[in-house]
Amino acid sequence: MIRKEPRLYYRVFVWSGTLRLFHWTLAFSTFILILTGIYIHYPPITTKWAEFKPQYIMAILRYWHFVAGYFFICALMVRFYLFFAGNQYERPADFLPINRRNLKSLMYNIKFYLYMTDEHECRMGHTILAGTIYFLLFICGVVMGLTGLYLLYPETPMVAKIGHELFGTPQQARLIHYLLNWFFIFFILVHLYIAIWNDFKAPDAIISGAFSGSKMMPADTACPLEDMEK
Ligand code: HEM
Repeated sequence: MIRKEPRLYYRVFVWSGTLRLFHWTLAFSTFILILTGIYIHYPPITTKWAEFKPQYIMAILRYWHFVAGYFFICALMVRFYLFFAGNQYERPADFLPINRRNLKSLMYNIKFYLYMTDEHECRMGHTILAGTIYFLLFICGVVMGLTGLYLLYPETPMVAKIGHELFGTPQQARLIHYLLNWFFIFFILVHLYIAIWNDFKAPDAIISGAFSGSKMMPADTACPLEDMEK
């Protein structure tokens, strides 16, 4: 049986083209970094196998790891720029729990994901919970970039000096790089799960918003349009 629910929606533009470019560059480069990184850590081919074709698998995959690494670093630089020059939803003040309103909102998000309330919060930008986790991911991304560059250029005096000050020996940096790899894997799994789950539960169409940049807001929500565009 088809259930008809006529409802009026506003389309509100939230995510700038630059933010979407950052998002998809980060997503694709992280995907390649994880696959190639896991291979670097657990190469399944023994020296015996290496005599067979295809040859130089490790060299090729390491090369792609570094190429993706540079895209990853560029994406982070773009996001850093947007912290200051992005629209209101892209700036940290909108999505970090740094004031009373955002702290309240954070508690609300936690309750929502613990199934303690069914009411969906009316928010145009990131929820505070998502924003806080994205910010943490950004910091981890910076650590990945720095440890990666340290591992890549251990003999460049300036890199070696800064790398040693920040992370200790290259082997210690490699351990941090490897452990954070699992944080990224865990994040991606939860991120995809929540995006799909939200697409079922909430009306704002967040998945298509990652492409189009806009969100759909039901006109009959408790959230007035002025509040959305503030
Ligand atoms: C989310 C981002 C990244 C992930 C998930 C990732 C993952 C990994 C993993 C799992 C390893 C193997 C570590 C080990 O053997 O214990 C690795 C090695 C390495 N990664 Fe990354 N990486 C990322 C970003 C970067 C970046 C931005 C760079 C710098 C361009 C980089 C450069 C390197 C280098 C130089 C190695 C060592 C290669 C070797 O020992 O042969 N990585 N990465």
